[in-house]
Amino acid sequence: MNGSFNERGLSPEEEERMLIEDDLDMLREDLVGELQAINQYQEHIESLGSEEAAATLEHIIEEEKEHVAELVKLIQRLDPVQADKFREVS
Ligand SMILES: [Fe+2]
Repeated sequence: MNGSFNERGLSPEEEERMLIEDDLDMLREDLVGELQAINQYQEHIESLGSEEAAATLEHIIEEEKEHVAELVKLIQRLDPVQADKFREVS
């Protein structure tokens, strides 16, 4: 095997793409986690007796929404197909 392929027979470009796909798998899971956190905080706000606690969770929800936006931007940068889809729907 020549020097431009690794032990799995992948070119440097294919190896790089695989690493990015692994990152994207994790980032999509993280995005799901952020969205679920927003729903959970919202659900708790509706049940909390303490106004202070509810206000704190409202603030946390705002931060989680910022995290969603950051992750979406990152995924868009790493996934060209996803980036195309964002352009198509905007
Ligand atoms: Fe978060």
